[in-house]
Amino acid sequence: MAEGTVNKQRRYLLGAASAAGGVAAVATATPFFLSMFPSARARAAGAPVEVDISKVEPGMMIRAEWRSKPVWVLHRTPEMINSLSEMGARVADPQSDAPMQPDYAQNQYRSVKPEWLVLVGICTHLGCSPTDKLQTGPDSGMGEDWKGGFYCPCHGSKFDLAGRVFKDMPAPTNLEVPKYQFISETQLVIGDDGKGA
Ligand code: FES
Repeated sequence: MAEGTVNKQRRYLLGAASAAGGVAAVATATPFFLSMFPSARARAAGAPVEVDISKVEPGMMIRAEWRSKPVWVLHRTPEMINSLSEMGARVADPQSDAPMQPDYAQNQYRSVKPEWLVLVGICTHLGCSPTDKLQTGPDSGMGEDWKGGFYCPCHGSKFDLAGRVFKDMPAPTNLEVPKYQFISETQLVIGDDGKGA
């Protein structure tokens, strides 16, 4: 092989090695840089959120945030739970058969435990935030026979105390139930139900 050709090949190999070294440096530097901000990255990726429910008395509702969405946690009373079977004829999808939700949401309670309701607080019509109307009867402003639930002020969709949409409403489906699980009697994790993706 001519000397010029050998030198050219050497230069090429050196250049390739240093380029590969550069890639390696970037490859090792990148995870280090990213690892400096795990919580921000985890939040952006929708990391699960832990919620303390120890002080949520029956009849109370608290609000959390997950993936930048409002999440409601309602502690239902026995009366609230009983009202759900009465609502069966008035809601569009009583057993919540529509897909795209955890299997524990596919029943009249739409929850892991009947006394705890966990919902994404965004209307399934056009994304407004419904108002909680937990009071019953005429004082609720929702009519004599109102059993408690949620009302979307944008176009009037009504939902019961399981987030089930009433019949003939603009909202096409029940309110979304996120993945969640109880990690103790007083701690709830939203965004992870222990069943994988
Ligand atoms: S956005 Fe809720 S009824 Fe339209």
